[in-house]
Formats: sequence, C-alpha cells, structure tokens
Amino acid sequence: MLEIADNGRTWLLSGPASSYAVHLTEDDELLHLHWGPRIALADAEALAVRPLPDYRPFESPLDGREEYPVEGGPRFARPALSVRTGERRGTEWRFETYEADDDHLRLAFRDGGLAITLHYRMRHDVVERWVTLDNEGSALELLRADSATWTLPEREEWRLSQLHGRWAAESRLTASQLTYGEKIIGSRRGHTGHQHLPWVALDTDATEERGEVYGCALGWSGSWRIAVAQLPDARVQITGGAGYDDSGLLRLESGESYTTPVFAGLWSDGGFGGASRAWHAYQRAYVIPDAEQDRPVLFNSWEATEFDISEEQQGTLARRAAAIGVELFVVDDGWFGKRTSDRAGLGDWTVNRDRFPNGLKPLADYVHALGMQFGIWVEPEMVNPDSELYRAHPDWVQFQPGRKRTEFRNQLVLNLAREDVQEYLWEQLHALLSSAPIDYVKWDFNRCFTDAGWPGEPYPQRLWVDHVRALYALLDRLRAAHPNVAFESCSGGGGRIDLGIMSRTDQVWTSDNTDPLDRLAIQHGFSQVHPARVMAAWVTDSPNTQLNGRVSSLRFRFVSSMAGVLGVGGDLTRWTEEELAEAGQWVALYKEIRPLVQHGDLYRLRPPRGGLSAVQYVRGDEAVVLAWLQAQSHGEPVPALRLRGLDPTASYECPETGEIHSGAVLLHHGLRTGLRGDLDAAVFRLRRI
Ligand code: DGJ
Repeated sequence: MLEIADNGRTWLLSGPASSYAVHLTEDDELLHLHWGPRIALADAEALAVRPLPDYRPFESPLDGREEYPVEGGPRFARPALSVRTGERRGTEWRFETYEADDDHLRLAFRDGGLAITLHYRMRHDVVERWVTLDNEGSALELLRADSATWTLPEREEWRLSQLHGRWAAESRLTASQLTYGEKIIGSRRGHTGHQHLPWVALDTDATEERGEVYGCALGWSGSWRIAVAQLPDARVQITGGAGYDDSGLLRLESGESYTTPVFAGLWSDGGFGGASRAWHAYQRAYVIPDAEQDRPVLFNSWEATEFDISEEQQGTLARRAAAIGVELFVVDDGWFGKRTSDRAGLGDWTVNRDRFPNGLKPLADYVHALGMQFGIWVEPEMVNPDSELYRAHPDWVQFQPGRKRTEFRNQLVLNLAREDVQEYLWEQLHALLSSAPIDYVKWDFNRCFTDAGWPGEPYPQRLWVDHVRALYALLDRLRAAHPNVAFESCSGGGGRIDLGIMSRTDQVWTSDNTDPLDRLAIQHGFSQVHPARVMAAWVTDSPNTQLNGRVSSLRFRFVSSMAGVLGVGGDLTRWTEEELAEAGQWVALYKEIRPLVQHGDLYRLRPPRGGLSAVQYVRGDEAVVLAWLQAQSHGEPVPALRLRGLDPTASYECPETGEIHSGAVLLHHGLRTGLRGDLDAAVFRLRRI
C-alpha cells in the first residue's frame, strides 16, 4: 500500500507488518524517515517536520539521513551515485515529479541532461529499490551507480550478520559487532562469488525467533559491493549495487540509459527466523519462476563418473536412478566436444560422437522411457584454449592486449559483451535444446574474471556489466524459446547465488561440498535468505570422495539432503542392493514431505554447532522435523526439540513413532528424538488430528 501526504512530499509504503517512509524537503533533499513497524501517514508527517540536528561546521546535516546520497555538496558519506562529465564530477539534482501506482513509487530528479528516477516497490514486507538513469544530455561516465542506500534507526550496538565462504565452504553465517567506519563485502570477480552472498542483516539483540532484524539482498550476478557504514552519530547506512569499486561502471552516451539491479530490504520483528520466512515467502511469490511447482528428485552424474562418460554407462546409472525413484536424470560434464578432461572442449557445444554415437537423443529417450526427465550440463560463458571455438576466434575472450591470458581450470572467459559471442551462444544452445528432448540445463561457471580487457572497445570497462546483462538476456531468450526447460545456476558449487540469477533459474547448486555434515552449516547459512525450494542437495558416496573422506550412514546423508531439493549424486553402480533399497525408501519419504520442505515455512530449531541440530517445515496442518546429531559427548542426554508453528490446542500424530503429541507439549516441552552416538539423523512427520 502506498500513501502520499497532501503536499506531495512525503510518501509512505506499507506491507502487512512494516512501513517505509521518505520525505522531500523544500531544497529537494530526499530524506529517509522511517523503516520499521507499520505507521500511519500522520506519523510519517510528524517525523517529516522534526528539525534536523544542529550541526557544527565539520559535520553534514545530510549524512546518514538521505535516501540516495549523491556525490558533491555538503556530504561526506559514501555516495551512491558518482557521475563524471567532461567538465565536472558530482550531482546537484532538482526534483521533477513523482508517479505512483499501487505499490510502485517513482521519484524523478534531474541534473542537467541526466534524469534520475528512484524506484520503490513494496512486495509483502520487502521493499524493492532500484534506480534508472537516462542520459538526455551529452556523454557522461557513471563512476558508481548503486541501487539504494538503506538507513537504519538510531540504536546502540548494531550487530552485522553476513554469509561468507570459499569454494566448497559457501554461505556460512557469521556475526560481529559493528564499529565505527565501514565494513565492505562484495565480489570483484565478475560473478557473485563463493566468498560472500550479497546479503547482510543487522540487529541489536534479536534471537532466532524474537527481535528486530533488518536485511538487505542484492539481485546482481556480477561484481558487486555492499558497504555497511556506522556513522559517527549512531546511524547506520547500507549502500549497495553492481560493480566493486568506483573507477567507472559505464559510459552513457547521449540517449543511453542504465537501470541498476534491485536491492531488496526487509524489516522483521520476528527474529532471524521470522526474517528468513519473510525472505522465503517473498522469493517464492515474486522472484523464483514457477515457484509453486515441486522440484523433482534428480540424479547428477558428476561425482559418479566425472569426465569418463559413455552412453551405455549413463544408461546403467539411469536404470538404477529410476529404480530408487529419481525423477530427473542429469548428465554432467563430459558429453561434448573433446571434453575428456578439463583441458579441452569448452566452447564446442556439439555432442562427442565417440561417446554418444547417435547424439543425445537416444539416451534422452531412454531416460524418458524410464519415467524420468532428462538434463544436461553446460558452461557457456567459457572456452578452453584447446577447442575449435578458440582456434577460430581467439579474440572472443576477455584479454588485455600484449598480456598473458590467465587460465584457471585451463579455461578463459568469453567476452559476452560482444554481440557475435552472444549470437554464437544463442545458436549453439538453441540448437542443443532443439536436438533432443532436454528438460533441464545445469548452467555452470567455473572461474572468475581476471584479464577483463576488450581490445578495440573505447570503454572496455563496460564488459563487467554487459557480461551479466548478456547472460540474463541469453537465459531469458532460451527460457522463452524452450518454456518447458528448467535451469540450474551453478558456479563451481555456490558461486552464483543471488536474487538476480534466481529470477531466471529454477534452482541453484548450493556447494560442491556434498559432505552431509559440512552441508548442515552451509544450508543453515543459505536458509537465512533463500528458501529450500531452490537449494539443491545431493546424497553422494561414503566415504566422501570429493572433499574429506568422511564416512556417514545413508540415513544421515539422506536426512541432510532432504532439507532442500533432494538429489542423488553417488555412484549407484557401486551401491549394494540393500543400499539401493534403503535409498528408495528415503526418496519415497522425501516425496511425501516435499510439499512441506519446498513450500512450507522454515523454523530453524537448533543451529548446527556440534551437537543436536534440527529444522522444521510447517504447512497447513502438517509439519516435518529433520534432526541431526553430530556427536554425543560424555553420554549426555540429547535435548528435546521445542517445536514451532504448531497449534497448542491441537493434537499431532507422528507416523514415525506412532505417538500422538499435544501441540502445547511439543511447543513447550519438545519432541524427544531418540538420536544417539555420532552422525545420527531422523525425520519426524506430524499430522494434526
Ligand atoms: C563444477 C560443478 O559445481 C560440479 O557439480 C560439476 O558440474 C563440475 N563443475 C563439472 O565440471
């Protein structure tokens, strides 16, 4: 809901639980008024007439109060917008007009030929913000154009939560006290990165289920930056957008425009759990395509076969996968070009006829005949120097003239900003998806930008932004042409997870770390912002082959993966008949609880910190608890799990134990899990009776 004061200078957006208000002064300064619990328009108007503090000459009255601080004038805080023309730098805008419909507010400003429009849209309790810049004057350079600056209320002792990591260790939650100055997270790698998810949360004293939490998440899959500033007067501002530094994002010629990605913000007073549930509901309703559809149980061949693949061997895996109830069979790397190792083949998206003599169609048909969908792996933005594509077009990669072309995993990054590269990829992928009945594409990205040059281009800097725009455009075009194909975002595991890619893909590969214990921490972090509906999780072999050799039971591996979109990634040809039979039972159980996991409300009952941890999903009259015990020490009793989201006056039946529980007892005294020893796990379904 959007309300506007009679003078047309105070705007109030409200969701079911929260409000956001801004005010334009007589001098056209756009000030932040409120972000927090719901307030009335009269409250916003009262805030608008509160005088600004009286400042001494060395302080700015605007710092920490503006909605979108531009560079120049009486400001010392980090600018969200930095513009350079041939004559000068900075912005001095005048307000022009506002437009409003339902939940979308546009505030239009102008500085000479540059039209600057700030967008606000309330969706549930998430405020989406972004900016459009239309250059109607002579050419100018956008040194920096952030999506938004968020202002938090005056409080003491802010705490910053973030998701940090690296390859095979993504999305791990950490919190620290904010001190004066700035904390910067981001990626200067050309993709979202494994190192940080573009999300932060700030609180002062929130717990999992209580207290105020402010969160911000950016929808951009290239380099990015979020700066959290603790200003001298106890105010905190969070500024974020595309690009890592301020050295130049784009040059806007006369008539050109730039639209920033969306930076979404959420206030919740339901603690970290309440905030996560609000983020999840928002993404399921507004971000994730077809979120109401269940994601199928998939099998992925990577850990089973790596590069050594053949049609017959994939057929054998497919038979076993179908027998345990898998619904989607995905052939990973190794099916194309000369791709027998990571040294060759990327760029040549035609089937390797030594391995698939009649193309992919016979295998796809076979997989379909087994009752499964068929999926395929690609890594379109990359090329191996040892490929037909690179031999034909060595200038299609990002490179600096006269410098070494840095290789990671023996590959270079294609310059997707080039139209000929965009067209080549469209033709190759469109032909691939037309050549066989393919239902699913796992889209990988296995190295960062290093030599992001573009010889011959007057403003090569633009390739950073244009690469992401081209990626989005290619995905959009492929989705439009092949509406029944689902896409997975992968980047060596979780190197490309953000709201931007999630609006164009159906699920994401969470991490190359498939160790079921490590995964609990990764999933715990991931769930802070993103829902289980997109969080792919495979059951792989024991001992773990990829990372640590850890031995774990099939039970523990399945219950760990069942907290997201279940997949199987082990070498099923080496699983015993007993293991396959047990796997079939777990897959069947997952299909029963899938509506709760993929579409329900998540409650994190206990975090994975060594002992007992658990999550609970609730939907309507049903709930499911997934519990894991890492290690039991000194024979200490394992605590009962106090459940959430149940009706205290109702009774619940648990088919796993045959017990009937009262909702009040489960909420207050908890559920006894019976877990013991090391790496134990269990699932408990609860149905209201
Ligand atoms: C990295 C991915 O994360 C893996 O799952 C697998 O697809 C390999 N790439 C294949 O090269």
